[in-house]
Amino acid sequence: MGIPTRHFDALIIGAGGAGLNAALQLAGAELRVAVVSKVFPTRSHTVAAQGGVNAALANVLPDSWHWHMFDTVKGSDYLGDQDAIEFMCREAIPTVYELEHAGVPFSRLDDGKIYQRAFGGQSQNFGGEQAARTCAAADRTGHAILHTLYQQNIRARTHFFDEFFAIDLVRDAEGIICGALVLEIETGEPLLIESKATLLATGGWGQVFRTTSNAHINTGDGAAMALRAGIPLMDMEFFQFHPTGIAGKGMLITEGTRGEGGYLINKHGERFMERYAPRAKDLASRDVVSRAIVTEVKEGRGCGENGDYVMLKLDHLGEQIIAKRLPGIRESSRIFAGVDPVIEPIPVFPTAHYAMGGIPTDRFGRVAMPAGHGAEEVVVGLYAAGECACASVHGANRLGGNSLLDILVFGRLAGKDIIDFVRENPYQRAVDPASLDQAMARLERWAMPGEGISVQSLRAEFRKCMEDHAGVFRTEEIMSEGYRRLCELRERLPEVRLTDQSKVFNTARIEALELENMIDVGLSIAVSALHRQESRGAHSRPDHPERDDATWLKHSLYYKEGDRMDYKPVRTKPLTVESFPPKERVY
Ligand code: FUM
Repeated sequence: MGIPTRHFDALIIGAGGAGLNAALQLAGAELRVAVVSKVFPTRSHTVAAQGGVNAALANVLPDSWHWHMFDTVKGSDYLGDQDAIEFMCREAIPTVYELEHAGVPFSRLDDGKIYQRAFGGQSQNFGGEQAARTCAAADRTGHAILHTLYQQNIRARTHFFDEFFAIDLVRDAEGIICGALVLEIETGEPLLIESKATLLATGGWGQVFRTTSNAHINTGDGAAMALRAGIPLMDMEFFQFHPTGIAGKGMLITEGTRGEGGYLINKHGERFMERYAPRAKDLASRDVVSRAIVTEVKEGRGCGENGDYVMLKLDHLGEQIIAKRLPGIRESSRIFAGVDPVIEPIPVFPTAHYAMGGIPTDRFGRVAMPAGHGAEEVVVGLYAAGECACASVHGANRLGGNSLLDILVFGRLAGKDIIDFVRENPYQRAVDPASLDQAMARLERWAMPGEGISVQSLRAEFRKCMEDHAGVFRTEEIMSEGYRRLCELRERLPEVRLTDQSKVFNTARIEALELENMIDVGLSIAVSALHRQESRGAHSRPDHPERDDATWLKHSLYYKEGDRMDYKPVRTKPLTVESFPPKERVY
């Protein structure tokens, strides 16, 4: 019997902000759009975004998209593509107003305008005074945005496949991608979704690290699917550690706490960020603050019995401000750290938070591959947007508040481009049976109960290895050992078996498929990091402490086959304004 098959104009894999904003454009244009999500859509990780979304609305302090662009280029340690960054910063303003009109319940100023808070790395006038650019719905901005987008999609009649897991992309006989094989988690039945265009919007892969702010679902499924399809991943060595995760647990304490006036102290009660970033202090960019915290701990100034964290002080803000602007933070601190920030400081330490790299795309969300001699080729019919994609707006370090912006701007643009693509390519391509067999083989590999290594033990070993060998500070020695151990784990993967007990639940099979994805993505991080012999943004190498623009001002590309690396130039020319040439990056 054949595999059940459904047909759509567009298939979107992932129901976070990028996927839903793309779907909304498509459904609004009367296209048949399917959104596949391994969780109920409003549980996608966008829901966890706290602090807000950047746009130079100038509601609180003077601002301009050009200053936003400067801050983003500097924040990226000059590795971001300046055409894409200009585009994103200009689009930020209409994007936020579009959300407001769609019903997002932003916090308000007394004059009724959208509330904006200060976030790290923001400045007025190209590096001057602190700006206030982050549009917020208290400390639950992602929740407000995701729920609004979901409701709008329901109204627009987007077709949702809730709790379906994407196994692999499928191709026609010419090799053109024309849909995906997915698995219904409840029944364990495969389903083939054929589509004229496919958008990967599967989010990030913070789960590859043991301590993370990311949801359990963030396992890099889309990035791994791209790798298996022969597509390289770009700038994978740049992974962001958010300075303020709850110590030992990793849950996010928003940068908005520092934007509202909170600050970090060490065991002597010293406001240590003054030493590391004399101007911006606690609102320096995230890579700078995370390195400062780890250094404080390493040099014996950490707090607590083991001296392994620092403290985030908020009590001076007063109960009223905390209740109005940071209610979720008070709740998380009470639940996960056992402290009430109105009374006492929160123990914090950097937590794996955000992937700057991903599937390389142009600014229309089209997946773009190097085609030799510096040329680029679009992968016909395949799009990527959101954290799994790399439109190259974050470079080596993302600024807080630019993540929601990225997913909304590029999700929307991808949706619009898919509309044109589908109108120009109105016929469904026939799936090549060999391609479908290959995807089915992946699924069947993970239906094997019996004796062997358990998914959980290999997963725990893998995540610890990533934490120990690809963390905030990296040396040749640490990373080479990490790579050697990851290769061993990859070799042991075929020995993994689902136990008799777990055979009963399809979730066990999903965990195995996720582990396979995570190991592929983890290797791409390890190999890319090992090759880059400089310190830039979030990639910090004490054995190569300087940024080296002469050799390394270039994007890395990792290919799964043979763990191969390639490189391509950074686009330093913006669309309409002058370039910001690389300079020393100080805060
Ligand atoms: O700190 C935060 O609220 C996180 C925001 C972000 O990653 O953009």
